[in-house]
Amino acid sequence: MEIPLSTASRPPTGSLRGAFPEGFMFGTATSAFQIEGATTEKESGRKPSVWDTFAKEEAGRETGGVNEEGKKFYNDLIDELKANGYASTSTQLTCYHKVYYNAILYAGIEPFVCLFHWDFPQALEDEYGGFMPHRSCHHDPPVVKDFVDYADFCFRTYGDRVKHWITICGPWSYAYSGYGVGTFAPGRGYSLSENQQLLEMSVFPASRHFSLLRLNTRSSFDLDLGDPGREPYTLPNGEVGEIGIILQQMWPIPYSQSKEDQGAAQRAKDFMLGWFMEPLIFGDYPKSMKALVGRRLPKFTPQESRMIKGTYDFIALNYYTANYSVNAPDHSHGKPHVARDSQDHETSWIHEYPEGLLDYLLYVKNKYNDPKIYIAENGIDQYDDPESPLPLWEALSDYKRVSYYNKHLSILKTAIDKYGVKVKGYFTWSLLDNFEWNSSLPPRYGHFYVDYNDNLKRYPKLSAEWFKTHLQKPLPFP
Ligand code: NOJ
Repeated sequence: MEIPLSTASRPPTGSLRGAFPEGFMFGTATSAFQIEGATTEKESGRKPSVWDTFAKEEAGRETGGVNEEGKKFYNDLIDELKANGYASTSTQLTCYHKVYYNAILYAGIEPFVCLFHWDFPQALEDEYGGFMPHRSCHHDPPVVKDFVDYADFCFRTYGDRVKHWITICGPWSYAYSGYGVGTFAPGRGYSLSENQQLLEMSVFPASRHFSLLRLNTRSSFDLDLGDPGREPYTLPNGEVGEIGIILQQMWPIPYSQSKEDQGAAQRAKDFMLGWFMEPLIFGDYPKSMKALVGRRLPKFTPQESRMIKGTYDFIALNYYTANYSVNAPDHSHGKPHVARDSQDHETSWIHEYPEGLLDYLLYVKNKYNDPKIYIAENGIDQYDDPESPLPLWEALSDYKRVSYYNKHLSILKTAIDKYGVKVKGYFTWSLLDNFEWNSSLPPRYGHFYVDYNDNLKRYPKLSAEWFKTHLQKPLPFP
C-alpha cells in the first residue's frame, strides 16, 4: 500500500523525489528468471522453463499442481515487502502454479506483480507448443486457458495485498525473438533471410494469442475478484486494483527528413509498440501491418475485437534507447544506421537518448487515448567481460548510470509538468545485476553488484546510494 505522506514525511522541496507529483511511485524492477536461481528441482520444487532449456539447463516434463513451497515463497516475499513499507525499492515475484513459475515485477513495498516475464513452462511448450497455434481450438488455445487459470490463482492468493498487476512484460520480445528470429527461448524462429514466410507463420499467431490472453485475464480479474457484475477489483482495505501490460519501443528517429525514412520510422513503431497496443486501444492491428503482412496476419473475430478494446487500467512502458530508421526495402543493403552517442561502445545496444522518452510519451498520449502510464523499465548496461573482469571499484562507480537516470527523470518531469502526460511511476532496470537472456557478454544493469564468483555476494553501487538519497521516500517521524 502506498503510505500517505504526512507533512512531516514530505520529501524536501528541491529534492528529485519532491519534484514529482505527490503519490508518484519510484521503484526498481527485476524478473524471476533473471535473479532467482533455483534452477534445479531440488530447490523449491521449481520445474524447468523454456529458458532453462534454451540456456542449456537440464529440463524435465513433469506437470501439474500448485507448488506449495513456491506459493509460500511469494507470500512471504510480499509480506516482507509490505512490512518494510517506508523504503521505495522494488523486487520481483514469481508464481508457482501448475508448472508455471513466471515472472512478476515489483515496485518494492508496493508490489507491482507481472505475471509473465518469459519463463514459460517447458512442459507446456512440449505439450502444445506454447503460444503456437493449436489445431484443436483455434479461438481458445490451451495457452490462453492455462494462463487465465494461473492468473486467477495469483489474484486469489496474493490479491489481498497486491494492487497493481501486469499480465506480460514485453510481448514483442517474446513473440518476435522467441517465435520469429529464434534468438530467445523457445527458439522457434526462422531466420529472416532464410524464410520470411515461416517466420510469419509462427510469430504472428503467437502474438495474437498474447492479445487474447490479455482479454481473458482481464475478464478473470474483474469477475473473480470483483463482483460478478464486473465491479472493479477491490482490496480488503477498499483500494481498487489495477491491471496493465508492459510494452516497449526503441524510439525510431527518421534518418533523414525524406518521406521514405519518415515512413520507415512509423513502421518501426507500428511493428513494435502498435502491434500489441492497437488491439487494446482500437481492437485491431496497425493499418501498416495489415497492409504489409496481408492475410498472413491472423484476424480477431468482431466479438474479440470489441471485447479486447480497453482491457487495461494502465499501460507500462519500457524505454532504453533510440535508433535511426532508414527506408531499406532491400535487406541486402545491410542494417540501418543507429544513433550513437560519443561514450558509446560497440558491445551495448543502448545509445543514450533521453529525448526519445519525451517523444515516445507524447506519441502514446496523443495516439492512444492519453492512458495512465508507468515507466516499467529504464536503464543502461555496463559490460563486464569474464575474460578480463572489471575491477570491483570500477563496477561500483556507475556514475554513467546515475547520469543516465538523472537525464531521463528530468525529461519525464517535463512530460508530466509541461505536456500533462499521465505518468504515475518510474522503475529503474534493475535492482541487481542479473542474467541477461541470450547476451554472450554479460552486462551489468543493477544498483547492486553481484559477485558471481563469490557466493553471489552483493555490493551497493554509486547508483544504489543515488536511489536512496534522491528517490526513496523519507521515513516519517515517529
Ligand atoms: C527488457 C527486459 O524486459 C529485461 O528482461 C532485460 O533484462 C532488459 N530489457 C535489458 O535488456
